[in-house]
Amino acid sequence: MLTFLHISDTHISGDAAYHPPWIPAPVVHPNRGAELLVEAILALPFAIDFILHTGDVCADPEEADYQRARELLQRLPGAVYLLPGNHDSAEYMESILPDGQKLQVLRDAQVEVGGYRLVTLDTAGQGDIHAPTLGDEQIDSFAAALDSAGEQPIIAAMHHSPVETGVPWLDEEMRIQNGERIQRILRAHRDQLAGVFHGHIHQQVVAQEDGVLYVCCPSTWSNLAGHPVVREGVADPLTPGGFNLVMLRGGRTFVRRFNLPLIKP
Ligand SMILES: [Fe+2]
Repeated sequence: MLTFLHISDTHISGDAAYHPPWIPAPVVHPNRGAELLVEAILALPFAIDFILHTGDVCADPEEADYQRARELLQRLPGAVYLLPGNHDSAEYMESILPDGQKLQVLRDAQVEVGGYRLVTLDTAGQGDIHAPTLGDEQIDSFAAALDSAGEQPIIAAMHHSPVETGVPWLDEEMRIQNGERIQRILRAHRDQLAGVFHGHIHQQVVAQEDGVLYVCCPSTWSNLAGHPVVREGVADPLTPGGFNLVMLRGGRTFVRRFNLPLIKP
C-alpha cells in the first residue's frame, strides 16, 4: 500500500520577469504555480509517502533557478524525488537541490519505497531535447534495474513518454523516438508494474498499452492542448495547473487529479 503525489513541469525560475519564449501571449509566472502547488499539498487532509517530480523542475539551466526551486520545494512534506527534464541542468540539479533530507535527485536510479521499487530513467539531454533517442547502454541498464526488482512491485518514472498517442505533435516531436524499446522492456514486467509516470507534455493523460499504464500529470503552471489534429505545442489556457494523487493498493492503481486555482496572467 502506497500513497504518493505525482507533480511535474514546474519550470521554476530565478528571474522575476521570466516569460517563456515559446508562448507569445501573457502567461502566469511559473513560480506562482509552484507556490499554489505547495499551498495545496500542505492543505491536503491525508498523509503521503512521498512526492515524485517527473522533471522540468526549472525553466532554464541557471543557478538562480535552482536556488529558488530549492527554497520552494523544501516547503513540501516528506521525501521529494526529482527527475531531470529537458529544461533542467543535471549538474545544477545534483549540486543544488539535494538537501540530505527530503529533496533527492534521481537520474538512472532505483530506490526502495514502502515495499515498491521505484526505477527512474533519465531521458533528458539525449539527442533532440524534446524527442530524445536513448542509447543502448542506458536502455540495457534500465532493463537490468527492472530485472533486479525480482518479484517486487515496480513504479517506473521518466520525463518523456515512450508511447505513441495518435496526436501528431506528441508522437513526432515530444516522445522518446526509440520508445518501442523502452515499452518492450516495461511490458515484460507488466504484472508487477503499478504504472509509468511521466511529464513533458503538460497534459493530464492516461494511456494503456499491452497492460502497461502510462500516466502524465499536468504542469503546475502552463498546460498544452492534445487532440487528433494538434501538430504543434498549443497553449490550453482553460486547463488549470494541477497534480495527481496516486494510490497503490495491492495490484490496483488509482489516480486522482487535483486542480490548482485557475489564475489569469
Ligand atoms: Fe516542461
